[in-house]
Formats: sequence, C-alpha cells, structure tokens
Amino acid sequence: MMEKPLLLMKQINKDFSGVQVLYDVDFEMSAGEVMALMGENGAGKSTLMKILAGVHTDWQGSILIEGEKHRFKNTKDAEQAGISIIYQELNLVQELSVAENIFLGREPAAFGGMINYPKMNRMAHEITDELNLNVDVRTPIAQLRVGQQQLVEIAKALSLNARILIMDEPSSALSDTETEILFRVIRQLIRRNVAVIYISHRMGEVFEIADRVTVLRDGHLVGVRSAKEVQRQELISMMVGRDFDQFFVKESAPQDEVALEVNRLTRKTIDGKYLIKDVTFRVRKGEQFGIAGLLGAGRTELLEAIFGADFLQTSGEVKINGQHIDYSSPEKTILAGLSLITEDRKGNGLVLGMSVEQNMTLAALREIVRYGMLSKSREKSVTGRFTHRLSINVSDMKNPIETLSGGNQQKVLLAKWLLTNPRILLLDEPTRGIDVGAKHEIYELLSELSKQGITIIIVSSELTELLSICDRIMVMREGTVSAILEHEEASQEKIMDAAAPLA
Ligand SMILES: Nc1ncnc2c1ncn2[C@@H]1O[C@H](COP(=O)(O)OP(=O)(O)OP(=O)(O)O)[C@@H](O)[C@H]1O
Ligand SMILES: [Mg+2]
Repeated sequence: MMEKPLLLMKQINKDFSGVQVLYDVDFEMSAGEVMALMGENGAGKSTLMKILAGVHTDWQGSILIEGEKHRFKNTKDAEQAGISIIYQELNLVQELSVAENIFLGREPAAFGGMINYPKMNRMAHEITDELNLNVDVRTPIAQLRVGQQQLVEIAKALSLNARILIMDEPSSALSDTETEILFRVIRQLIRRNVAVIYISHRMGEVFEIADRVTVLRDGHLVGVRSAKEVQRQELISMMVGRDFDQFFVKESAPQDEVALEVNRLTRKTIDGKYLIKDVTFRVRKGEQFGIAGLLGAGRTELLEAIFGADFLQTSGEVKINGQHIDYSSPEKTILAGLSLITEDRKGNGLVLGMSVEQNMTLAALREIVRYGMLSKSREKSVTGRFTHRLSINVSDMKNPIETLSGGNQQKVLLAKWLLTNPRILLLDEPTRGIDVGAKHEIYELLSELSKQGITIIIVSSELTELLSICDRIMVMREGTVSAILEHEEASQEKIMDAAAPLA
C-alpha cells in the first residue's frame, strides 16, 4: 500500500486578473523527501508555491496536509500549519539587524514585554553558525552582500521549524561552497522528516539533492520523475517542450587591441579593510572575460570599482582603448562606454512600480528621445526587438515589472543595459535565475555582441558557464588576482584550487 502523502495539492488553478497561469496542477509529496520543482521562467513555480504558503489566496483547487483540508488566509496561517518559504526575491528589512530579521514578529520577550536581545542574538547566532554565515548577528542587513542576505533568508525559514520548507531558488546567489553547506542543512532536515521543496534552474543541484522532480510548463503539470532514474536530456525536453542541445559552444572573437586595462586597482572599506587589492588585468576588444571566485572574494567589488560606484575608497587606474578614464561616478563611466548589470535586481537594477517598458528604456533615454521628445514609437520598436530577442515572457509591456516572473525580470535588466550600446559590458551573475533555454539565448547574444567588438566581462558562480563561454577566466581570492586561465587550460579543479582561501 502507498504511504499517505504529507502534502497533496489538487487541481490548482490560478489567474492574475483574467490571465490564467496555472491549469489543474496536481502536486504531491511525502515527509522526509526533497522534491525539486522545475520549469522555464514563467512556468508557474513561484505562483504554485505562493499559493501553498498563503501569499496568494485567490485560487481554485484544494490543499490537503496529512489528509486534512486547508485554505490559508495569509502567510501566518500557513506558518502555523508548518509551512515556511524562502522567497525567490529577498524580503529582508534593510535597516534591521540579521537577528531582528530572522525573528521579525516573533522576537523572544524579556520581562516587561521588551525584546530580549541577548536571547534573540544568541538564538540567531546558533542558526547562522550552522549555515557558516560568519557575520555579527547585530549587523544591519544593508551591510551584507546579496549571497549573505540569502543565507539570512534561509536562517529565517529554518528558525520556524517547518514541516514543509519551500526554497525558491535559494542557491541562485550562493557560491558552490555555500551551496554545499545549504545541502548539508537540507540533509539534516530530511533526517528530521521535514519535506523540502527545492526550486532551481541548476540541473546539477537537482540531481544532487532531490529525490523526485516535478516539472511544470506554461502553467501545466508535465510530469513527476524520480531523480535517480530520469536523464538530464529528458528533463530538459519536459521543461522546454522540445529536444535541446545542452552544451553551448563558444563563438567569441577577441581582437588584438586591448579594450580595457586595469592597473593596481585597490578599494578599501571606510575602516581600512581591503575589498580588492592591486588588481591588474587587461581585456581585449571582443573578448569574453570571466571572473570566478568564492563569495566575498571581491568580484562584485571589483566591477563596482571599475564602474565608479565607490570612488572615494578606490585607487589605481582604469584605461579604455589606452585612455585613462575618470571613474569618479557611474555617469562618467557610462559615457566612457561602460555598463554594469548588477546582481541585485530588486536593489539597484529595476524600479518597482514602473512598467516593463519604462524599466527597459530607463538607462537608454538618449536613444529614444528625439528632438527633445520621448518618441513612443521608437520606444516600442527598440524594446520590442529585445523582448523578442531574449524571449521575455510578458503579455503587455505596460504591466508593472513586479508582475513578471523572476527570470523574466532578469532578462529585462539585461535588455535595459544592452539598449545603452556599451563598448564594455560588466555583468554580475547575469544568468542567475534564468532557465536553460533562455540561458542559451543569452550566451548566443553575448557571442554576437563580442563579434561586434563589444568586450564582455562576466562574474559568475556557475563554473560550467564560465568554462563554456569565456576566452579567459580570472580567479580572485581574498580581493586579489590568484590566476588568469586561458580557455583551453581552464578546468573546474584549477579554478577551485585558485579560489580556495589560503590556509
Ligand atoms: N503578481 C502577479 N501579477 C500578474 N502576473 C503575475 C504575478 N506573479 C506572477 N505572474 C505571472 O504568472 C506567470 C508565472 O510566474 P511565476 O513567477 O510563477 O514563474 P516561475 O516559474 O516562478 O518563473 P521563474 O523561473 O522566472 O522564477 C508568469 O507569466 C508571470 O508573469
Ligand atoms: Mg519563480
């Protein structure tokens, strides 16, 4: 006899103002199981999970937990039933500390009803310690990097001691080492009989951690497979709906001319700690240059320094086509031909509340404004071109950006900067949260740009990505350059070796 499932979602239907996004979806899992949920950007994964977590209340179908019917009125309601969720987009209060965020609304009370800070900090420390997050729990969130913030989100979900834990792309901002720690934690949870729903676009992770895989496509359930039995290729065709060559072959065309030269670039924090130190490298015109390293190695800090995001604390020189550039502000470096696509789309990439179209054209207004007027038809034609090129899944360009799925938001961000016609494109984790099909489209696009003479510098935590698309890979360790590898000689092992902290 089959064991009764812990969770049963039956015939789930959901629409957003008349646009149907989930069609009769069934989803089922047992206690102590890791179920991966996969599908292309916009397939409906987050929506299905937000229904389970009580975020969306307006839907049809039924939810049974241990055979008992539930209909959550809000997220608190779902939490009480033992469901907790790590959202795809970070949801932390920037001004509050790590500990305050973890226990927000559930702070341990001291005598007289005040928050018992010592106790709360101690409890927070225990959880962050388990995740190897080495920050003082009293630090405000705003001072943490995206990857560290992601770990705080995870800590928060863990502190709820849920029976069903939903992780919506928890690893997208984590490096391989942090992901390993996350997996260790998941395995511990499984031993405690927790059910974990794991959403990720990274095939390797799914095969490593999941017992079964549920695949959605365009709001429909395609099927459920055992992770041990299913082949990679089968999963991809289930998601994409066609056969697909999973390996991308690089086609870049570096020229001899040096496009970007960085000499002894150094950046410190206000209290004098080095973020990057004496970083020197050259990148050729049309080259695809990768930057690898662990979280905190200084990759993002380096891109920001080149882009002029933190002039006061930066020293050293940056040259474009042999000319010194003034990197005292992004306005100046943009004019010099640089564009930076940041890793944090919610924080400084996209303007929530504005439409998809407005977000795309924000950085390229020069292109669109003609004779002092904003040309609506021009705006439409340029944005239309990129929407098509990146296959951005959007029903109306006038919709607010937050109505797009996470991966589609990332594509809008990419389009936004491509519209500025940069000579040198700095990309920080550009395919984070992007599905396999769209990733290939982005790789093809980058190859095409490099053939047009655009230089591409790309920071990524996905080594396979760097290995397949880059002409060279620079590895950073503790703020310095530890290796620069040619495409032919680069391998996962060599990169990991150069990235590992010195004992
Ligand atoms: N608040 C909303 N308002 C309107 N439409 C929405 C809203 N949230 C999601 N959608 C739409 O629902 C569909 C499914 O989105 P969902 O976020 O569930 O996709 P996903 O599978 O999680 O994709 P990704 O891999 O990109 O995160 C998309 O077409 C999206 O545009
Ligand atoms: Mg999603």
